[in-house]
Amino acid sequence: MTDTFDVLNPSTEEVVKTVHMASTQELDAVIAKAKAAWPAWRDTAPSTKATLMRRFAVLVEEHKSELATLEVLEAGHTIGNAEWEVDNVRNVINYFAGGAERLLGQQIPVPGGIDVTFHEPFGVVGIIVPWNFPMPIAAWGFAPALAAGNTVVLKPAEVTPLTALKLAEIALEAGIPEGVFNVVPGFGKITGAHLVEHPDVRKIVFTGSTAVGTGIMQAGASRLKRVTLELGGKSPTIIFADSDVELAAKSAPGAVFDNSGQDCCARSRILVQRSVYDDVLAHMESVVKGFSVGDPALRTTDMGPLISQVQLDRVKSYVPDDAPILYQGDAPQGKGFWFPPTILAPVTTADRQYSQEIFGPVAVVIPFDDEAEAIALANNTDYGLAASVWTRDVGRAIRVSRAVEAGVISVNSHSSVRYFTPFGGFKMSGIGRELGPNAMEAFTETKNVFIATDN
Ligand code: NAI
Ligand code: MG
Repeated sequence: MTDTFDVLNPSTEEVVKTVHMASTQELDAVIAKAKAAWPAWRDTAPSTKATLMRRFAVLVEEHKSELATLEVLEAGHTIGNAEWEVDNVRNVINYFAGGAERLLGQQIPVPGGIDVTFHEPFGVVGIIVPWNFPMPIAAWGFAPALAAGNTVVLKPAEVTPLTALKLAEIALEAGIPEGVFNVVPGFGKITGAHLVEHPDVRKIVFTGSTAVGTGIMQAGASRLKRVTLELGGKSPTIIFADSDVELAAKSAPGAVFDNSGQDCCARSRILVQRSVYDDVLAHMESVVKGFSVGDPALRTTDMGPLISQVQLDRVKSYVPDDAPILYQGDAPQGKGFWFPPTILAPVTTADRQYSQEIFGPVAVVIPFDDEAEAIALANNTDYGLAASVWTRDVGRAIRVSRAVEAGVISVNSHSSVRYFTPFGGFKMSGIGRELGPNAMEAFTETKNVFIATDN
C-alpha cells in the first residue's frame, strides 16, 4: 500500500490535497510522544487547562471560514452545515473546558475515617473518526478527553483528514502543549488497527461502521481496552394520525436527506399511521422533489454529494432498476458522487432497504395500524440510535419514547445532537455515551480512597 492518499473533492473528483499516511512505526513515535506529554498535562492546574481550552475555542471561531471551507471541499458538506459544524466544535471545546474544573468526586460516609472518590485520567486516549461529520465527531472525543487530563492520538478517516489536521495546529497555537493533542492520518486497517492494539493506548473512542466497531471491541478485549463505540443506525420517524401531520410529513425528508443521508441518526424508516398515510405521502412529494442538490458551496443548496465512489456504489446497490421508487428528486450529472433524494414504497420489513443502514439519501415508508404496531416496527432492527415521535397526545409521546429501544429520542422534532445532552445508542448502535454532563467520566477511572482517622 502506498503511503499517501489523495483527498478528493466529492463534488468534482479533483484532488484537494495529497496526505501522508502514517506507518505503524510513525504511529508508535506519536504514541510515545503523547505518553511522555501526559504526566505534565495531567498535573496542569484545572483552571489552566480550562483557560487553554477556552483559547482553543476562540481560535476555532477565528478560523471559522477556513475550517468550514475545508469541510465543503473535502466532505462535500453544504456551507450552512459546515458552519454549524465549526460552531459545534467551538461550543464542545468551551463546554468541556468548564468540565476541567468540575470533575467532581464524591465524599461517602464511612466508619473510622473519610472516603472520597477521584476521576483519574487514563493516559493516552485513541480516537478514530469517520468521514461523515469529521470535525464535530473529532471534538466530541478530544474535548472531554483533554479536559479530563488525558492526552490524545486521533486518527481521522482516510478521505477527510484536513479539518482534524487544522484543529491540531490551532490547538498548538492556543498554547496546548506539544504532544497533548496529536492527529495522525492513516489507513484504518493499518494505523487504526495499530492504535487499537497498542498497549500504551488505554481507551479507544470509535465512530463508524458496526462491523469495524465490533472488531475493535474484540481486538481490545485481550487487554480489556476501554471503548466508547458510536456505530450505525436505522432510525425511525413515527408519525401518528393525532400529530401535526403536515409538519411531521414535510420535515421527515430533511431528517434523512441532511448531509446526503450520511448520518448515523438519519431517520431512514418513516413509519406512518395508516389513516394518514396518503396525506403524509402527498405532503412529502413536493419536499422530496424540491430538494436542491448541487454545489455545496452555494447557500441555496440543500444537499451535496456523497463522500466517495465507494459510498455512491454502496447507495446505488440499494436502489436497483426494479426498486419501488415512489418519489425521487434531481441530482447533477457528470463528475462528482451524486445521488438524488429517494423515497421507496411500498417496502416490507423483509426488504434489505428496510433493515440495513444505507447511509445515503434513501428512505422507506411503511404504514402501521396502532401504537403497539408502531413500537414493534420501531424496535424491529438490530440498531437503536435515534427515533422521532410525532403526536400531540402527551401520554402517547411519553409511552412511545419509553418503549422505543434507542438512545436519542425526539418528540415533535428531529433534533438529536446537542453538546449538552447525552448521545449514543442501544443494541448494535454502540456502547457508552458522548456529550452531555457526564461525558468526561467515560475518559476516567473512578478511584476510591479511604483515609483512616483513628490510627
Ligand atoms: P469504517 O467503519 O470502515 O471507517 C470509520 C473509521 O474507522 C475510519 O477512520 C477508518 O479509517 C477506521 N477503520 C477502518 N477499519 C479499521 C480497523 N480495522 N481498525 C481501526 N480503525 C479502522 O466506515 P466506512 O467503511 O467508511 O463506511 C462503511 C459504512 O459504515 C457506511 O456506509 C455507514 O453505514 C457506516 N458508517 C457509520 C458512521 C456513523 O456515524 N456511525 C460513520 C461512517 C460510516
Ligand atoms: Mg470500512
